Amino acid sequence: MIISPSILSADFMNLETDINSLGKRDDLWLHLDVMDGHFVPNMTFGIPIIKQLAKITEIPLDMHLMVTNPDFHIEELKDTKLQNVTFHVEAVSDILALVTKAKKYYPSVGISIKPGTSVSSLTPDVLDLVDLILVMSVEPGFGGQKFMPDSIQKIKDLTTLKKLNNYHYQIQVDGGIDNNTVKDVVHAGADNLVAGSYIFGASPDEYSNRIESLKIK
Ligand code: DX5
Ligand code: ZN
Repeated sequence: MIISPSILSADFMNLETDINSLGKRDDLWLHLDVMDGHFVPNMTFGIPIIKQLAKITEIPLDMHLMVTNPDFHIEELKDTKLQNVTFHVEAVSDILALVTKAKKYYPSVGISIKPGTSVSSLTPDVLDLVDLILVMSVEPGFGGQKFMPDSIQKIKDLTTLKKLNNYHYQIQVDGGIDNNTVKDVVHAGADNLVAGSYIFGASPDEYSNRIESLKIK
């Protein structure tokens, strides 16, 4: 189980301190929500900040691209050390081509589906190739929203498909994850959890406990 705290809810004026307060653990990724004010209404940060972040932390970086043209970020950051890069299928016409290209640059490549996008829209060739599928359990764009229970069935379907076909993807879930919502998500088969406000909404000395509380069996 990997926990990927989203810095969207961290203190941007003290980002390095907040990141360091997560501690050294081998079950962590650091989730970077890139928003362009177009694919989603909100805007966050972009390439220069991500390049700097890669220099100050050893935590594997997990970039979630909520942008209309993910190809741009995938190209611009190809020499930056990122563990995983996820883009939204709704933004791209040739999903297979972009996954194939991104896999040349990054150890792990993911695709994400918004709450309104069905699992059946993902084709077997894509499912076979991707390293991660991100199920959005809120509408992308903002932290601190309420978990959408409809996402559970999607996680179950992806778990079934994975077992049936021997796919290797991780199932990541993002939005409204806390110590209550985590149970159904994990029982449905998720093995990679993004949490923003639940972790960074606590005081820094509590981050570790919050992370631990998401690691249920
Ligand atoms: C929302 C982002 C999330 C967000 C999650 O569009 O993709 O990663 O930070 O925040 P919480 O965990 O507060 O729902
Ligand atoms: Zn995210």
